[in-house]
Amino acid sequence: MTETPPPRRARAEIDLGALRANVRTLRARVAPHVRIMAVVKADAYGHGAVRCARAALEAGADWLGTATPHEALALRAAGITDVPVMCWLWTPGDPWDQGIEAGLDMSVSGMWALEEVVEAARRTGGTARVQLKADTGLGRNGCQPADWPELVGAALKAEADGLVKVTGLWSHFACADEPHHPSIAAQLDVFRSLLDHAEKAGVEPEVRHIANSPATLTLPEAHFDLVRPGIAVYGVSPSPELGTSAELGLRPVMSLKASVALVKWVPAGHGVSYGHHYVTDAETTLGLVPLGYADGVPRHASGRGPVLVDGTVRTVAGRVAMDQFVVDLGGDDPAPGTEAVLFGPGDRGEPTAEDWAVAADTIAYEIVTRIGARVPRVYLGG
Ligand SMILES: Cc1ncc(COP(=O)(O)O)c(C=O)c1O
Repeated sequence: MTETPPPRRARAEIDLGALRANVRTLRARVAPHVRIMAVVKADAYGHGAVRCARAALEAGADWLGTATPHEALALRAAGITDVPVMCWLWTPGDPWDQGIEAGLDMSVSGMWALEEVVEAARRTGGTARVQLKADTGLGRNGCQPADWPELVGAALKAEADGLVKVTGLWSHFACADEPHHPSIAAQLDVFRSLLDHAEKAGVEPEVRHIANSPATLTLPEAHFDLVRPGIAVYGVSPSPELGTSAELGLRPVMSLKASVALVKWVPAGHGVSYGHHYVTDAETTLGLVPLGYADGVPRHASGRGPVLVDGTVRTVAGRVAMDQFVVDLGGDDPAPGTEAVLFGPGDRGEPTAEDWAVAADTIAYEIVTRIGARVPRVYLGG
């Protein structure tokens, strides 16, 4: 049998040169002693974890960060063995033994996790690299300030027993993407006092950190020893309030493109796609774009999502279906196979992921992260 050629339907182009440039831009925004952890969780926000991790390291990132231990172990399995990798979303029964063997920095937010990691250290005979996470006000993961002394004390005891090394003290912001939000200063105050407590008790962390992308870009007082940018590495603005990616000096890394699968003339009054929420008001041409919500095109952007076809930005006509949607081409008649660009950097007139976020009433993080596995990633820039 001859080999099946790669799909022509659609692709997500990943510009690794842009990713490297973004890391260098972030590097220039922090003091020389501040280390950069490139966050590559969720398959590098949909961009491909291993390729993006390598590119980020080439451009000067010092650490990698993931949510789950399995994501972190996959980086190690891919041969990324010589840099610290931290993961922070642990569930009881997760692979602590493998985390110790792989030298992962494992986040601990409560006593159950410390107990499991200490058990694993006893079993494996290794010393676990543990980072203690404080909830300084986000109200999500992390140890409550009231429980911090108990967690710190137990971690120090395990350290004295040679079972763990407390490598980091850290937290996460709730509203860093809303400049001057009062919770920012309040969280920093709590973080400083929890650091003070832990250090007076005897913890000597390698790194103290709280800054995500918005804090990396706008809050130097939150940089401490390390920053943890995610979305900025991928060249996407964390929020419209902080400016567009171009205004932030970032370049979007992902471009989502499809090949128009069909162009046809239809008369006035023709319903388009499920539910007939769009009806042509004159004789026109319709273009079929072979991407749908199974590929991560948000159904919520039905009737609103922008697409560049043959030099003109069109709008999704009617509902986004599972595998396809339609644009009204207004009588233009491009050849089937013509490129349709859903989003990219924006400098060739194409929409951006930030435009799709507005159209889908969501955040640009969700737009890039949800591009599905059926869409091949095509890497540019080495
Ligand atoms: C704990 C933690 N740190 C850092 C990040 C990176 O955030 P951002 O993509 O806003 O830079 C995330 C992502 O949500 C996170 O969960």
